[in-house]
Amino acid sequence: MQKVFFRKIGVKSYKPGKSILLNRKKVIKLSANESALGFSPLIKRKISKIKLLSRYPDSKSKSLRKQISKKFKCNFDQIICGAGSDEIIQMICQLFLRKSDEVIIPKYSFLMYRIYSGIIGAKIVYAKENNFKISVDEILKKVTRRTKVVFLANPNNPTATYLSSTELKDLRKRLRSNILLVVDDAYEEYMLNKNYRSGLSLFKNFKNVFILRTFSKIYGLASLRVGWGYGSKEIVSALMKIKPPFNVSKIGEISALESLKDKNFINKSIKHNKKWAKILKTNFERFNINTNSITANFLFLNFDKCKISSRLFKKKLEEKGIIVRSLEVYGIKNKLRITIGNSKENIFLIKTLKSIFLNV
Ligand SMILES: Cc1ncc(COP(=O)(O)O)c(C=O)c1O
Repeated sequence: MQKVFFRKIGVKSYKPGKSILLNRKKVIKLSANESALGFSPLIKRKISKIKLLSRYPDSKSKSLRKQISKKFKCNFDQIICGAGSDEIIQMICQLFLRKSDEVIIPKYSFLMYRIYSGIIGAKIVYAKENNFKISVDEILKKVTRRTKVVFLANPNNPTATYLSSTELKDLRKRLRSNILLVVDDAYEEYMLNKNYRSGLSLFKNFKNVFILRTFSKIYGLASLRVGWGYGSKEIVSALMKIKPPFNVSKIGEISALESLKDKNFINKSIKHNKKWAKILKTNFERFNINTNSITANFLFLNFDKCKISSRLFKKKLEEKGIIVRSLEVYGIKNKLRITIGNSKENIFLIKTLKSIFLNV
């Protein structure tokens, strides 16, 4: 037998939140920060008319990039589309990192930053957070001459905290200029906080900042896998060489493009999120389950003052068919992350919450 040899991949693979429960046909899935209201009705109409699915899609997603550049007032040739922003994170790691390089990642942040950096073999350096909030000073403390990239999501998943625009600008100012700062704007559309500004609006013209965006959250297209990145022309043209040729499907591209046109749907989703996040927060707090202040379309639930543990609470929700995200894979104990669902799901959740505490 011939043996083939390959690299040892010393990273734990991504463990998504559960999406099914044994013995249950119907579940309420509040574990992956997907859109509460699905996607724009414009998309359904458009998809039914798509022809030529037997042909490859446009390898450079030109129509979508044009629409993005129009909508976000940014340059067409600084945009790259990916199979989710996930794929763009992977490409950034491929482009920037080698084995001897260091990447700084806040202690509790989106897992794919560490997974893709780890696959390349780069050294991952975790920056402490203060009370589950990213700290600019802690990031800066970790910089060495080997640091190549800093990743952060703003607002951050899973903690739901965020850096103000002043803090984010301060980070860029004090970070060595040849270190790439990646700002992941995945949840920016939900952000109504006054001192928040998206990475895109702050750093559009910075050559040492790369922005990530996704159609998986407020646009409701998680299963179609469409995201985009924005950076200098030089970075984007190098990423274009790394990019698999047909990474965004035709249905994905057309749906994303339509979704950008439906402002009403986005406004409706923002309103829905604002209303329900507040109602859910109040209800959780009645039972001493504390949350961070409202930011994105999910809440970070803290059970430290609650009479039951996060594990028991999660189990009890699952018995009723509700799935939430355990944060143990992030190394966070006694906390859960829950996505704001649609109205029916939220009403059922509140009812379940009350019944759980009535019986413990
Ligand atoms: C902060 C953050 N970035 C990126 C992603 C990935 O999004 P996509 O579906 O575009 O790959 C997620 C998904 O949960 C996320 O929370």
